[in-house]
Amino acid sequence: MFYKLGCSFRALYFKENLLGFFYSYLSGLILGILGGVMRRISIINYKGGTGKTSTVVNMAHGMALQGLKVLIVDTDPQGSASHHLGIRTSVTLYDLLIKGLDPEDCIVSARENLDIICANEHLFPAEMKLTTEADREYVLSDRLESLEGYDVVLLDCAPSMNLLNQNALIYSDEILLPVSMEYLSLIGVKQLLKNIKIINKLFDKEIKITKVIPTFFDKRNKKSKDILDSLNRVFPGNISMPIRSCVSLSEAPGVKKTIFEYDPNSKASEDYLELIKEVLSSGKEKRL
Ligand SMILES: Nc1ncnc2c1ncn2[C@@H]1O[C@H](COP(=O)(O)OP(=O)(O)O)[C@@H](O)[C@H]1O
Ligand SMILES: [Mg+2]
Repeated sequence: MFYKLGCSFRALYFKENLLGFFYSYLSGLILGILGGVMRRISIINYKGGTGKTSTVVNMAHGMALQGLKVLIVDTDPQGSASHHLGIRTSVTLYDLLIKGLDPEDCIVSARENLDIICANEHLFPAEMKLTTEADREYVLSDRLESLEGYDVVLLDCAPSMNLLNQNALIYSDEILLPVSMEYLSLIGVKQLLKNIKIINKLFDKEIKITKVIPTFFDKRNKKSKDILDSLNRVFPGNISMPIRSCVSLSEAPGVKKTIFEYDPNSKASEDYLELIKEVLSSGKEKRL
């Protein structure tokens, strides 16, 4: 994908001048090499209803529409991401984790450029079965080791501190943390920060919070402003543009559509496009 982008820059530059050709050839080459880096991002918050699944589904589809190859791994036994996209399948993350199926046998196509490993209630017993495995925190990482061909893997996490979430975190290099504009959200954030520190230390990881995402934001509301201020104090320079409260966003899952299918002209559509831009450019800084 990055190679393709490089190529189109190249075509543009070629029209401008010959020097541009060499410049763009080089950039295509660099982007092509960087294209091999698959970003593994957990979208997590221990609190429910903060916009995790909405962020996963809409970011994933927005990125896919831009030509990136994206995989969603639904690690929440409620299977909300799978429901939201209207995907029903009998093969799920349970088969990957417990039965040892290969990733390609568990992956289902959800949209063009967008695949998913689904979840359903079978994941509840998976949690218990995993506890008896050796290296039980690494099962997901082991099973997905052979995975390739994706630019981004987004993991939709359940709102709890369970073993599945530990597996998701250990597989990931980055975290996106959606925080709803409620005072209690800040408690969940503190707990998560503590846990990330512990995981980084115990498992020798360097998981980074790429962006904290204010969700359900309403600028007319004092509470939104207060919580955004608090987040800015705790994560200076790490807060994304907010995702505003938007009725279309709450209606889209009911008709199994992403925001780009349901209401592409909505403010939520605009907000998620901005978020994608921020996340992709923060990745670039990290790699260069
Ligand atoms: N910015 C928003 N504005 C309005 N409704 C939203 C917004 N973000 C999410 N929702 C809705 O709120 C509910 C909870 O969001 P969801 O993404 O499922 O949260 P989580 O995965 O953190 O539990 C869903 O019905 C979703 O459609
Ligand atoms: Mg969810």
